Amino acid sequence: MGSERQVASTKIVMGNWKMNGSAAKVATVLTALPSFPPNSDITICLPFPYLAQGVQLLDDKHCVVGAQNLSEFADGAYTGDVSASMLADIGCKTVLIGHSERRTFFAESDEVVAAKLTRAKHARLRCVVCVGETLIERDSGLAQQRIQQQLNAVLKQLDSDAQALAFCVAYEPVWAIGSGRAATEAQIAEMHQFIKNIIGTKFPVLYGGSVTDDNAANIMGIANVDGVLVGGASLDASKFAAICNEGLGK
Ligand code: PGA
Repeated sequence: MGSERQVASTKIVMGNWKMNGSAAKVATVLTALPSFPPNSDITICLPFPYLAQGVQLLDDKHCVVGAQNLSEFADGAYTGDVSASMLADIGCKTVLIGHSERRTFFAESDEVVAAKLTRAKHARLRCVVCVGETLIERDSGLAQQRIQQQLNAVLKQLDSDAQALAFCVAYEPVWAIGSGRAATEAQIAEMHQFIKNIIGTKFPVLYGGSVTDDNAANIMGIANVDGVLVGGASLDASKFAAICNEGLGK
């Protein structure tokens, strides 16, 4: 495992299963996860049908369950949607908002992302707003401009009384997601500094995009990286546990 660099303090580790899994897979993977220490900050974002199952299975493991999306509307006649209050009701603690796959495949605009953030905040869910540039934007020198635009849409909602841990940003360059090509250390350091300059230092900023048990320690050792958002590798209990342990500095 790549751990040349020491992880200074407890980092946030979040898994994102995307539209993968089954009840049997959830049971196998979550049962295989160890019980983490009480100071851990670990979340697994499961597909909607498995959230309640996850809450039950992780009950005593100091690992919480998150959702990958929520409705921009409050409860009511919105067939097929899932509201923030429903997520909170079943014991879900966290929600991803504006993942690039939602923005790309479901045409989620910055305005929709902002509306979802409002709903999640009211339901007291921890909100993880995902931002990231495409390869074309990066190659055209527009990466920071795109991130600024995505953050502008939610900045108003970061009022001074927003709890630091109730809001995180996940920087996930679109070209690094599922590609096996994580951003370089310099690219991550530069963008995390840029994001902190915009949102302030009290809100954590996670990195996501091809994080594995091999590169997690190095990535979490980069300045201004408060944790990682892990897709593919979170589907494997031993890989995910290894990343969580790196985040705990073990
Ligand atoms: P990946 O996905 O780790 O499989 O690249 C990250 C994400 O999309 O959150």
